[in-house]
Amino acid sequence: MPMEKYQFMSNVWRDGIFDNKVVFCTGGAGTICSAQVRAMVALGANACIIGRNVEKTENMAKDIATARPGARVLGIGAIDVRKPELLQGAADRCARELGSLDFVIAGAAGNFLATIDQISPNAMKSVIDIDVLGSYNTVKATLPYLKESAGRYRTDGTTLPVNGTGGRIIFVSATLHYTGTPMQSHVSVAKAGVDAMAMSVAIEQGPRGITSNIIAPGPIAETEGMARLSKSDAKSKVAKAVPSGRFGAVKEIADATVYLFSDAGNFVNGETLVVDGGAWHTAGFAGGFEYPDFMLSGESVTGVKGGKKSKL
Ligand code: HXC
Repeated sequence: MPMEKYQFMSNVWRDGIFDNKVVFCTGGAGTICSAQVRAMVALGANACIIGRNVEKTENMAKDIATARPGARVLGIGAIDVRKPELLQGAADRCARELGSLDFVIAGAAGNFLATIDQISPNAMKSVIDIDVLGSYNTVKATLPYLKESAGRYRTDGTTLPVNGTGGRIIFVSATLHYTGTPMQSHVSVAKAGVDAMAMSVAIEQGPRGITSNIIAPGPIAETEGMARLSKSDAKSKVAKAVPSGRFGAVKEIADATVYLFSDAGNFVNGETLVVDGGAWHTAGFAGGFEYPDFMLSGESVTGVKGGKKSKL
């Protein structure tokens, strides 16, 4: 659905700062990533969003394109980030059709709530594969393009930037592993790996002008993540535990993205930008499942999206 600008980004950014640039985003049909891309597109970029579901990805691409007259947004569906060859094909197509690939958002992720004894080896592997290997495959497929862009738009931070920025990657992570979070061992392990990867990219590719940073969203309202991680009748209790007293909005993640990709973020590299209203400081996220009572009960998780399907 087309959105008013104030709904997906703050009114502090200048139009055209991403003119003639291209952003490539995995998980781009999701609520958070689509807002990140929409903000970039509104500010001048063209985009490729990547997803597993063809219809959802193509429809979201059309929708994001409404953010700016003349915007080009490709929705490339049927791409599982666990398949390096598919991701490489998507990155090559993006650069070929849109002319370059200047910014990358590694946003595809998998999640559900379950204690470690309720997680099968395949379930653990699935999340690690999507989050860690998916991010790696994204880096691998896009790095040659990012190097090119970083070389083209290199800045020393003091001269007037004429053509803007490029050669930047953001990994969308989480805060779950900072404290340890019940029923999130799989994602905590995976996101710790993603964070480590982002740092390695910063250190190794920084000398080429690339920046690699992490955005760690907290509880963001109306997202797939919240639907999967929190019972709907527990929302006010969960929100109360956030120091800012509320859930975040997707525009707040989009703003963080624009900051890191823009001229304002030139010297920020290998950093984690936590956007969570202070939530992780007040400890683990339990989504309305009483701690430790629920863990001790041995019950399966119900009442959230993405609950385990019975094989009967
Ligand atoms: C236990 C579960 C489960 C559940 C699936 N599985 N759901 N186990 N509890 N609720 C198990 C399956 O039984 C199977 O194991 C294995 O996981 C793989 O599941 P499949 O559905 O076969 O495969 P796949 O398509 O790979 O699914 C991956 C997935 C799924 C991660 C399990 O949830 C998914 O595709 N999610 C994508 C969307 C998503 O999660 N978005 C939210 C991101 S939010 P067996 O042994 O039976 O074969 C996010 C926020 C972070 O990341 C933090 C914010 C605060």
